[in-house]
Amino acid sequence: MRPGAESSIAGRQRTIHAQPASRVAGSIAVPGDKSISHRAILLSALATGTSEVRGFLASEDCLASLAAMRAMGVQIERPAPTEVRVRGAGLHGLGAPGHDLDMGNAGTAMRLFTGLLSAQKFDSRLIGDQSLMRRPMERVAKPLREMGADVRTHEGTPPVDVRGGRRLHGIDYRMSVASAQVKSAILLSALYAEGATTVTSPAPCRDHSERMLESAGVQVITQGLTTRIEPPGRLESQSIAVPGDFSSAAFFLVAGLLGAAEEGLVLENVGLNPTRTGLLDILRSMGGRIQVENPRMSGAEPVGDLRVHRSRLHGIAVSKSLVPLAIDEFPVLFVAAACAEGETVIAGAEELRVKESDRIAAMGAGFTVLGVAHSVTPDGMRIQGRGEGPVCGAGEVDSCGDHRIAMAFAVASLRASGPIAIRDTANVATSFPGFVELARSTGLALSESGSGDAC
Ligand code: S3P
Repeated sequence: MRPGAESSIAGRQRTIHAQPASRVAGSIAVPGDKSISHRAILLSALATGTSEVRGFLASEDCLASLAAMRAMGVQIERPAPTEVRVRGAGLHGLGAPGHDLDMGNAGTAMRLFTGLLSAQKFDSRLIGDQSLMRRPMERVAKPLREMGADVRTHEGTPPVDVRGGRRLHGIDYRMSVASAQVKSAILLSALYAEGATTVTSPAPCRDHSERMLESAGVQVITQGLTTRIEPPGRLESQSIAVPGDFSSAAFFLVAGLLGAAEEGLVLENVGLNPTRTGLLDILRSMGGRIQVENPRMSGAEPVGDLRVHRSRLHGIAVSKSLVPLAIDEFPVLFVAAACAEGETVIAGAEELRVKESDRIAAMGAGFTVLGVAHSVTPDGMRIQGRGEGPVCGAGEVDSCGDHRIAMAFAVASLRASGPIAIRDTANVATSFPGFVELARSTGLALSESGSGDAC
């Protein structure tokens, strides 16, 4: 067995039991953004001076980033679970970790740290849980090697071995996939390279790294799909307010469309960075009624409150251009599509096959159990929605250890004719600690059984 293969799943057999529910209501705040929380830890650790992070996502994924920085000697305090104070080590102040860095389930952490570690003076090795050990890492290793780094994968997957002490140089890189993780890994490495680096994406993808680097005083120039970065002398410390995670809000957006009470379901302080909100456009074009209230800026990131109304949805062909802007939201979009009138076609989404699970296969298998008519394609799915009324039967579905598959099937209970048992749900804690409780507070009839961390 490969190193780390069992690191985070041993003894964590949990099940979410979802009884049919029909109504959700209230005003809730989802936990902080996962992407921004990872970046807040990384950039604060590299800054000169002390940074304060509020609204930090205290989930297993982001705590893996925090632990990795501590292992490299960065002093990090947590005055409260969602508040972090990071005494930056400076760009050149990290020390050798002394052990393998275990990123658990966190693909973002593994890819961003690979970029950062490729420019350090010391050697390092990155490992993760069973899911992460199967995920593709050459997409990050390849451009870093072009910059002069020594990064090795195990036939394309982790463990990732990084040799330190290399002199890096800037490159002009065209990504073949619109991946914010790859772009961010290159930008982190470029902080240390000789000369400027440019990264061009085939389509827009999330830009949190660019925004946070600029706030840290780095010169980042974005022109269309190309980002250019000049190596800075140092990063400034910051005060970072992490907004609510749009990808976590997504489960309640769909829940609200399926079952909101008269006054709607309100989601407060949600990050609305346009590189993240593709699902809003998709759901609106399906007939979803969602209002943005109090739009405002929270530091470098746009945020707002979302009011969701119960809506009659209809099937659509999802525009391929929206796929990278909604990349994490497809499991719950599949559920919305099952509840829409007519067919929804999703194509150009083959990236879903290399996420925490193969999300096309995992959702397809669950739909088969629950009696949702669909056909799986290599790059997406066609879903025959049934419109109003129950669309799913009762049954036992497997989340395949994937947090977003688990939460998507929990939302399906709003249109189920009987209980849904969702297996292998401990990893909900990787992105959304407290999901079951928060969902119950809105009216979903969820409970949990099993050992390990609560969701
Ligand atoms: C993320 C980028 C996306 C997303 C992931 C988080 C990030 O991955 O799926 O959950 O924080 O940069 P890709 O960039 O690989 O598409």
